[in-house]
Amino acid sequence: MTTAYWNGDYLPLEQVRISPLDRGFLFADGVYEVVAAYGGHLFERDAHVRRLERSLAALRIETDFDAEGWARLLETLVARNGGGDLAVYLQVTRGAAATRGHAFPSPEVRPSVFASASPLMRLAPDTLAQGLAAVTLDDIRWLRCEIKSIALLGNVLAQQHALEHGATETIQVRDGLVSEGASTNVFVVRNGAIATPIADHRILAGITRAVVIRLACEHGLPLAERDVSRSELESADEIWIASTTKEVAPVTRLDGRPVGDGQPGPVWARVRALFEQVLPA
Ligand code: PDD
Repeated sequence: MTTAYWNGDYLPLEQVRISPLDRGFLFADGVYEVVAAYGGHLFERDAHVRRLERSLAALRIETDFDAEGWARLLETLVARNGGGDLAVYLQVTRGAAATRGHAFPSPEVRPSVFASASPLMRLAPDTLAQGLAAVTLDDIRWLRCEIKSIALLGNVLAQQHALEHGATETIQVRDGLVSEGASTNVFVVRNGAIATPIADHRILAGITRAVVIRLACEHGLPLAERDVSRSELESADEIWIASTTKEVAPVTRLDGRPVGDGQPGPVWARVRALFEQVLPA
């Protein structure tokens, strides 16, 4: 049975009851994080907590938690779910007021804090060896994509587009430039040089993305954070996607055509090996 956290209590997920007036339900007025645990050890916990605090600050949601409190919540939830390989979901909304209204409720209305854990569904080695299929789509989302908001309609439609086109991920393109996947960041490789879109308001600053950048830097692999055009994506030798749940995975088909020679590339293999070395044992 899954143990969840709900406003101060740890209880079976089935027993959590949320008001229909919760602003998460009515307005998607909230933020979230997904943190992976390997063998019961949270990966990049503090980076996720820092991003959560940035998202909350951007939406002006004030909670009673500090960084230590968030860390303790995450650790407790992992322990109460038996450790192991888990995906921990943490969501904070602006809470439930007595009536519906767009503007912020009075400060007595406290944010709703929910967290749960589920098995971490890692991509299997043979899936990685084959690589994933991706398709492209116009990025129709708002221009505050750096906030990890629970308002995810554009991402939902993009993910469904992938599913309906036999692909794992949709790579979104805005004004001729690659932004990000439905739930991943994107990297391209040309002539051995790695590039990834700048982490500004157009994308989420992925924690996995940051780990990949750090590893490339530490190991002397050329990597630039810069605009990446659609034509660069289409002519890339390698494309990778990166996220907490997908880790760092190669894309070997784009819009039905092979990427490079259609096999996961050597730069990906190098970075993937480095990534596996930094995962908690
Ligand atoms: N998604 N971009 C978007 C739009 C995302 O939703 C995510 C993560 C990422 C990668 O971020 P990170 O490396 O910090 O997981 C990039 C999570 C996993 C999700 O929504 O399930």
